[in-house]
Amino acid sequence: MPISEEFIQELKIRTDIVDVISSYVNLKKVGRNMVGLCPFHNEKTPSFNVSEENGFFHCFGCGAGGDVITFIKRAENLDYVDAVKFLAQKAGMSMPEDYGDRGITNLKNRIYEANREAARFYHKQLYTPNGERALEYLRKRNLSEKTIIHFGLGYSPQSRYELVNYLRNKGFTAQELIQANLAKQSQRGYAFDRFSDRVMFPIMDLRGNVIAFGGRVMSDIKPKYLNTSDTPVFNKSRNLFALGFAKKKSFGTLILVEGYMDVIALHQAGIENAVATLGTALTQEQAMLMKKYCETVAVCYDSDDAGRKATERAIPILRDAGLKIKILNVPDGKDPDEYIRTHGEQGPARFRMLLDKSGNDVDFRLGDLRKKYDTDITEQRVEYLTEASRIIAELDSSIEQDAYLSQLSEELGAEKSAIKNQMLRFMQKNTRKDRIKRQREIQDSMLARYDKVNSEKFYNLRAANAEETLIALVMLHPDVADKIFLNVRPNQFVTSFNRKVYEILKKHSENGGNFTLTDISGEFSNDEISQIAKILAAHPRENDPDRTAKDCLLVLEEENDKMTPEEIAQADTTTLMKKLQKLKEKKK
Ligand code: GTP
Ligand code: MN
Repeated sequence: MPISEEFIQELKIRTDIVDVISSYVNLKKVGRNMVGLCPFHNEKTPSFNVSEENGFFHCFGCGAGGDVITFIKRAENLDYVDAVKFLAQKAGMSMPEDYGDRGITNLKNRIYEANREAARFYHKQLYTPNGERALEYLRKRNLSEKTIIHFGLGYSPQSRYELVNYLRNKGFTAQELIQANLAKQSQRGYAFDRFSDRVMFPIMDLRGNVIAFGGRVMSDIKPKYLNTSDTPVFNKSRNLFALGFAKKKSFGTLILVEGYMDVIALHQAGIENAVATLGTALTQEQAMLMKKYCETVAVCYDSDDAGRKATERAIPILRDAGLKIKILNVPDGKDPDEYIRTHGEQGPARFRMLLDKSGNDVDFRLGDLRKKYDTDITEQRVEYLTEASRIIAELDSSIEQDAYLSQLSEELGAEKSAIKNQMLRFMQKNTRKDRIKRQREIQDSMLARYDKVNSEKFYNLRAANAEETLIALVMLHPDVADKIFLNVRPNQFVTSFNRKVYEILKKHSENGGNFTLTDISGEFSNDEISQIAKILAAHPRENDPDRTAKDCLLVLEEENDKMTPEEIAQADTTTLMKKLQKLKEKKK
């Protein structure tokens, strides 16, 4: 069952595209549009445009574009129905349940609901005699009542049957609870609670759904943490703890820490841009996810050996995602949570100072490099200096470069100018690499201009341009649309993609509906919608739409009269002469 037109209409009225996109992209007003850095490709100069007036976005760099639903589809990697749901939830509208792929969507919804109920249940346990110890534990770890509520922390009772009973009474089946990984199946086939006697940390997605839990023991039992395994709604390598909170407070930087407790302690201290992985090493997907909400990631892992190793592994992953990296070192082998706690009232301020002071990853990489070489051996010393100057060459600031060069030269008693020359050689190479990269970018953008969606356009440029103008006229000037639909028949369109768009617009109009991008977006793929948004972006509103429409119609008539190369090859002489005569008359 498709989503009703009325529903989409209301959703559109209640949703402000600039509002929605602003939580992903830093937008500035330029002329009539809002402009920012495209979230769908890596760029340094903003070519991403949002038209509030006409309700669409378009990136001149990568060609992505569409309405607010398309944006959410791409940004959140959702299908159409889920994107509508996502926006509906934001707009406070409830969706009738039976949309989309019923089977899997229903199971997912059941799991979300079971998780939400479970989170409530666990949280309430804290305030029962059973949960007293857990509440005590959280308080001892300095967490305030407000923080406990904000993160929805809780306690899973020891008994192994309470949650299952509670949720069964609420109508969930054993199967559903097992699939949510809230329960496990015993050998005799009944379901029992997965988490027992643990402090519970709910893990939420960006929409605020509870998708999983982490559970910590309050003693020295192993494993310290038990996390939800992957379920239909949860994939531990694609989510980050507290990203939903942190993305709103990122201001360009996210702090990546190791543990849930670190995140919570930082948020409580007012440092609300901290996130953590979910008990695994950082993945590429998580780096890409962060890239959507920030430019810089400050890595603040524990300063023990494991932490350093994890930092080492995280750096290339973050760099590949196009993120700038800072390394934040917490002194005395402490994790951020302990650090803040031991400094009492000054904790938050001190942590902020560490953050301000944190360097780029050059220090870190030099330090690591240093450990690999025995600099008493000449050969190794030379190699170390070479590799070090390669790293220093990457720095943008020559002042910083100079500082590192001095440091190196002092440390190893090497001639500074020699290291500098080596560095300059690497810099030259870098610029050559940059140049190649830039050329590739230009080639890519030219390729983008060669239309993938409307491949016929290349050979029918004149007709396609007229068609696109007509499409834009219809969509941007609904008042003249009827007249255009009356005068221009779809079969007068030369290129089939544009014809399809025009036909769908016409169908919507005949059914008495609207035909903005949002109304028709359900009938096109992401690429196709991008194409239509591109058409709109390239056609501002017209002063005299009637007249433009007439011009376009004329072009289409002429282009339709033209014979294709194959027709010309096959036509006999008389037909050709007649055709030529007709064209001449028309010109007069
Ligand atoms: P506290 O010890 O309570 O301060 O917790 P922490 O969050 O600081 O944990 P720690 O630094 O020891 O570990 C970092 C993160 O790794 C945790 O938040 C968990 O996500 C994960 N982790 C730690 N121990 C385990 C474990 O035994 N099993 C699993 N699956 N994950 C773990
Ligand atoms: Mn810790």
